[in-house]
Amino acid sequence: MNEHVLGSAFGRARVAEMREMLAETASAADDAPRGLPGCFYNDEAFFNHECRTVLHQGWHCVGRADEFAEQGDYLTLNLLGEPLIIVRDGDEIVALSNVCQHRGMPLAEGQGNASRFVCRYHAWAYGTDGALLRAPRMKNDGFDPKKCKLGRFHCVQRFGFVYVCLADDAPDIDTELADLSALIGRYEPEEYSIVHAATEVWNCNWKALVENFMEGYHLSVVHPQTLHGYTPTGLSRKGPKGAGFTSYFANYPDNIPPRGDGAPGLDAEWKHRSTLFATFPCQVVSIAASLLVSLSIRPLTPTSIEVRWTMSVFGDSLDGDTVNQRIALWEDVNQEDREKLEMMQTALGSVHAKGGPLAGEDYEGTVKDFLHWLSRRDAEFE
Ligand code: FES
Ligand SMILES: [Fe+2]
Repeated sequence: MNEHVLGSAFGRARVAEMREMLAETASAADDAPRGLPGCFYNDEAFFNHECRTVLHQGWHCVGRADEFAEQGDYLTLNLLGEPLIIVRDGDEIVALSNVCQHRGMPLAEGQGNASRFVCRYHAWAYGTDGALLRAPRMKNDGFDPKKCKLGRFHCVQRFGFVYVCLADDAPDIDTELADLSALIGRYEPEEYSIVHAATEVWNCNWKALVENFMEGYHLSVVHPQTLHGYTPTGLSRKGPKGAGFTSYFANYPDNIPPRGDGAPGLDAEWKHRSTLFATFPCQVVSIAASLLVSLSIRPLTPTSIEVRWTMSVFGDSLDGDTVNQRIALWEDVNQEDREKLEMMQTALGSVHAKGGPLAGEDYEGTVKDFLHWLSRRDAEFE
């Protein structure tokens, strides 16, 4: 047996062993939940398994719908190794493959507006629907431009977000997110307009950021200056979960004035909290009366992610200075989380990172929900 075959046999055995470990961890007694052992944040073979399964089959937030307001507005990204162009094409926002059908050159970069995408290699030109419009000097009788359309992926809009799934057999997003609208519909999330977007690479596993963003247990410890004043750990309360999401409420102390009016359907209680939710696998969001912050997590390697975060504002509820302050605040908050996650990433490589006990529902119940989702979804694959 050569080394490669041996290596992959070991890899398969390791993945099988870890899948069992995942199911076992997720089946811990309800009042004694545990986190995942460190290997789940490091192991190459398991990461490759996740890429083929739960991540490939997942719906991934790629931006806000108002980033694609005009015909031809586009944004490029790499999602699990797939180069994509998200573009407004008439009434639709579509996810095209960013791979020229001639010899494979990427067609577009960054973000912008285009009436067509012209390849920089031999100048083939494609429309915003992915059809090949022009292929200079291609005179072969056997050449059929209709067979050279750009590939497409599933792309839908919910709550003002644009979601993409790479799998042919995408799960029904409305089943995944059923009941999320009962939770966040009152904020009228479609009415928030984007004011800021930034992309960074963090050196941590993708699950670590989902878990971090979704638990209120660390708020007062990690964010004493930035968040503790209005979302202290002690006021965190577990929110509802659904097939493909979970949530918690970061309530504000009584002495904090409401931070903007927001949608007419919000009563005093809802104006006095931020609602944090995750749409699995890779989006985490904080929504409040006037502000919506969303992080799209794109796994790159077992130990690195690209994070694209956006901030949106309800109507014209915040003036320019306040918006700038909020952007600066969230930059600090993200930095504080990043620093902790990158430190933890190294320690998770230890044989003693065995996955410790989790705190109760209000503080880390969302981590348990994520683990249950992961284990359930993982079990659907061969
Ligand atoms: S690779 Fe795009 S035109 Fe040749
Ligand atoms: Fe945090």
